[in-house]
Amino acid sequence: MVKLLSISNLTKYFDSFKALDAISFSVKKGKIVGLLGPNGAGKTTTIRIITGVLPRTSGEILLDGQDLDPTSKEWKLQFGIVPETTNSYLDYSPLKNMMFSGRLYGLSKHYCKERALSLLKEFGLADKIHLVTKKLSKGQKQRLNLSMALLHDPQYLFLDEPTTGLDVNSAQLLRKRIQEFKKEGKTIFLTTHNMLEANILCDEIIILNKGKILAVGSPETLRKKFMPASKIELELRNFPENTSIFQQLNLDYQIKPVENKVTFFSTNPAEDFVQIQDILKSQAAQIMQCHISPASLEEIFLKILGEN
Ligand SMILES: Nc1ncnc2c1ncn2[C@@H]1O[C@H](COP(=O)(O)OP(=O)(O)O)[C@@H](O)[C@H]1O
Ligand SMILES: [Mg+2]
Repeated sequence: MVKLLSISNLTKYFDSFKALDAISFSVKKGKIVGLLGPNGAGKTTTIRIITGVLPRTSGEILLDGQDLDPTSKEWKLQFGIVPETTNSYLDYSPLKNMMFSGRLYGLSKHYCKERALSLLKEFGLADKIHLVTKKLSKGQKQRLNLSMALLHDPQYLFLDEPTTGLDVNSAQLLRKRIQEFKKEGKTIFLTTHNMLEANILCDEIIILNKGKILAVGSPETLRKKFMPASKIELELRNFPENTSIFQQLNLDYQIKPVENKVTFFSTNPAEDFVQIQDILKSQAAQIMQCHISPASLEEIFLKILGEN
């Protein structure tokens, strides 16, 4: 069983344009890895190369240390993919799409039909199996794509912006299935620009911009490294006239006196909050609302992009 997919110095040129610039990362079995980056970062190109759709210009792709040919049949049987744009035939029904896919994977007709029906049912398409695919909604098409990706029970799942443009319910169903897939010990590699989604799903995050990797780590590691301070947001009654009193706290802060709000940035919010309370008391200011939160992945992402 393959445990480590590693990419080393992967570079891709489209003519003279460098879309990927010597990126290296590895993906461990049983993890959800998220590739995050703005449009044009090179996310889709990365997935296309690993899944054998595009040739690389240079660099290595290794499975447990062995050179991998991304176009080989052995590798194709190990992964499923939900591409950025649908790979189903719009004039075929969902069931026919599944049967067609199954043939490509060399599945027996009987096994394929059973599994196809069970997957289509699981994804709420039981009453659509004979409808032409072009008549499905966007969410239904995406669920068909996922059913097709899972048909041959792959160990690896590649998802390119799987929830972009989906309604809340479809997106939630998809995320739930991704988490179940992980529980089965399988490996998921997904691209997204949805930070909340990445924060919920991903064990490891790779931040990519203009073909270069800027940071790698769990959401927690990235938070500690790039934005360790939590925000203490307060709304006050009797907002202190002399706001220089906040300086004695030795914390960064922002004030919005018109809205009666002050925000402190603290790496030790529990202790600092006590001191903040003392100072406010001495000014006869009262806390009406208080909100303490760690930096969001979106803030961390923007900071990392900004630093580069
Ligand atoms: N087939 C192609 N020919 C030329 N340029 C391409 C091709 N595919 C992608 N690119 C360029 O490579 C860069 C990365 O694209 P892509 O991997 O699709 O980014 P992302 O998925 O992160 O939005 C973009 O600037 C894009 O225009
Ligand atoms: Mg893309």
